Amino acid sequence: MSSSIIPFIVSLLILTGHSQFQFEYSESVCQRSWYNRFHLTSTTKPTVEVLRNNILMGKPVKVVITQGMYKETFNLDNLNMNGLVICGESIERMSRPIGPDSEFQPIIVCTNGDVSFLNISARSWNGYVLAHAWKVDSLMFSTRDYSPEHIPVTSRYLDGSSSNGIRDNFMAMAVKSEMRGVMRDRGYAFTMDNIHIDYATKHISGQSLSHVSQSLTSAGGIVFRDPPYHWLSSWETTGRRDSARWTMGDMKPLKHTNDYVALQWYADSCWSVVYEHDKNGQPLRGSFETLKTFVKMGYRVRVNFDGYSLEANSVFVSPDDVIVAQTSAEMARRGGADNDKTFFNTKTRQIFRLIHTTGVVRSHLYFIENGELSAKSTENMQMTWSVDTRPWNQVVVMDSKNNVTFGNVTSLLYAMETSSIRVKLELKESLFNGNNSEMFLEMTNVRSPNVTDGVPEVVAQSLRTVPFYRQGSSKDYFMYLKNNVKQYLQVSTKTGLTVAQFDMVTRAYVKPSDWLVESITWYKDERLY
Ligand SMILES: *[C@@H]1O[C@H](CO)[C@@H](O)[C@H](O)[C@H]1NC(C)=O
Ligand SMILES: *[C@@H]1O[C@H](CO)[C@@H](O)[C@H](O)[C@H]1NC(C)=O
Ligand SMILES: *[C@@H]1O[C@H](CO)[C@@H](O)[C@H](O)[C@H]1NC(C)=O
Ligand SMILES: *[C@@H]1O[C@H](CO)[C@@H](O)[C@H](O)[C@H]1NC(C)=O
Ligand SMILES: *[C@@H]1O[C@H](CO)[C@@H](O)[C@H](O)[C@H]1NC(C)=O
Repeated sequence: MSSSIIPFIVSLLILTGHSQFQFEYSESVCQRSWYNRFHLTSTTKPTVEVLRNNILMGKPVKVVITQGMYKETFNLDNLNMNGLVICGESIERMSRPIGPDSEFQPIIVCTNGDVSFLNISARSWNGYVLAHAWKVDSLMFSTRDYSPEHIPVTSRYLDGSSSNGIRDNFMAMAVKSEMRGVMRDRGYAFTMDNIHIDYATKHISGQSLSHVSQSLTSAGGIVFRDPPYHWLSSWETTGRRDSARWTMGDMKPLKHTNDYVALQWYADSCWSVVYEHDKNGQPLRGSFETLKTFVKMGYRVRVNFDGYSLEANSVFVSPDDVIVAQTSAEMARRGGADNDKTFFNTKTRQIFRLIHTTGVVRSHLYFIENGELSAKSTENMQMTWSVDTRPWNQVVVMDSKNNVTFGNVTSLLYAMETSSIRVKLELKESLFNGNNSEMFLEMTNVRSPNVTDGVPEVVAQSLRTVPFYRQGSSKDYFMYLKNNVKQYLQVSTKTGLTVAQFDMVTRAYVKPSDWLVESITWYKDERLY
């Protein structure tokens, strides 16, 4: 393994101009794949000790489920423990195919074999949400290393004071990295959907938005509450936590409370800053070409501006050299100077953003209780762009007829178990002399309906994108102001791209306009040997 690592590291150094020290520090960590820590089958009942320790060391967790010929994988948003049982949730999951009758199916998977999912229609405001038990054949929990020492970047007591022996480099990491929180005392760990840095107070806050309420059972398990609700939480390094609760389906407000908690903050050491520009898109550090090179190789992207640090749910590369990060995993913070400045608004609002390398940030804020637009803004911002330096590689390329032109689907089927998967859509443009745009998608889940099929189908969903359009031939992109929709994408190795949209206010299904997909590329974040 080690011999093939070197050329990659060298090329990174040349591209980014980063100090040697920084890359040596995390070099081997970022070459590591997901590693199986717990594999439950009808014949094996492993103990949870190893998985438990990995979770308490801040590592992210990915699950692979098999049932008959069906296989599915996704990352877990949060992990909870009840004695010897560990359960995790994923909320970004829809029934297949994506279309008018799609349902959201948030899922909870447990090391005792208990799996159940909820059933929420995408096209109604119906609050009647049912949990369905799912009898699966096997469950594999894998973890991935975040840092060489597995120590937090800061560790906070209830009163916000930090424990000794911690490097406390959380401010620098917050600019560029994905972060996770661990409540060691409770045995609870989760991914921060976004981070905000308050430079005045030197505190950061992170939001956790993908949690469905859970309860511990007397039999030692963990289940969705009945009825279930969304638990949106905002965590600060001051120790303060804000919690807003909303019913599922009909989005009615429940209790909104705040308290103080002890939390360990972990940061993924594999992210590296590659480009910084001023509010007019003029380079300050690194270069646009470097960012573009990484984006075009399939790398994950984060962008930092005005204290916000967000991962792009999709990244759009236009042939006239503008890159647009689109984000939606964020709720508005109250702002101001009071102690509640990081709290959710009583009328909580989701923010959709288009963040351009020209410096332009367009933001739309929508009330989650009725889908109506609350506010919009266009601002020019200085930005810092970073990428996840784990090696991304093409696995399969399909043409506009969904014929495979590179790689094979069988290798994609293997890759979905051990790697993360991303997808690029090459979209036809009428401007730019035949050059096309490219859209790189975060995939929130990947499944194969029948792994024994001669050529098995692999299907992946990207559920956090927002629709946007170009104004004329400008470098500026816009979100729709009237008839706002939520958009869900699904990509299949057999049928290509499927798009479904639902009106945000009425939730009626909206037939999307045709996307002119010229090719589809599947990536995995694992070295090719
Ligand atoms: C979910 O509920 C709807 C009715 O609201 C029903 O038609 C559908 O079959 C259910 N889905 C599953 C997987 O049970
Ligand atoms: C590509 O797909 C089309 C339509 O499915 C099919 O007719 C054609 O033979 C395929 N071409 C190749 C080279 O496989
Ligand atoms: C698919 O690709 C793998 C390498 O990833 C290779 O070992 C295998 O032979 C290929 N299968 C076919 C049918 O081409
Ligand atoms: C598009 O492609 C042509 C030919 O490859 C190239 O000369 C041109 O600069 C490209 N870019 C744009 C923005 O048209
Ligand atoms: C899966 O594919 C195999 C081989 O094509 C087929 O025999 C089997 O019936 C399929 N199973 C399901 C559940 O579709």
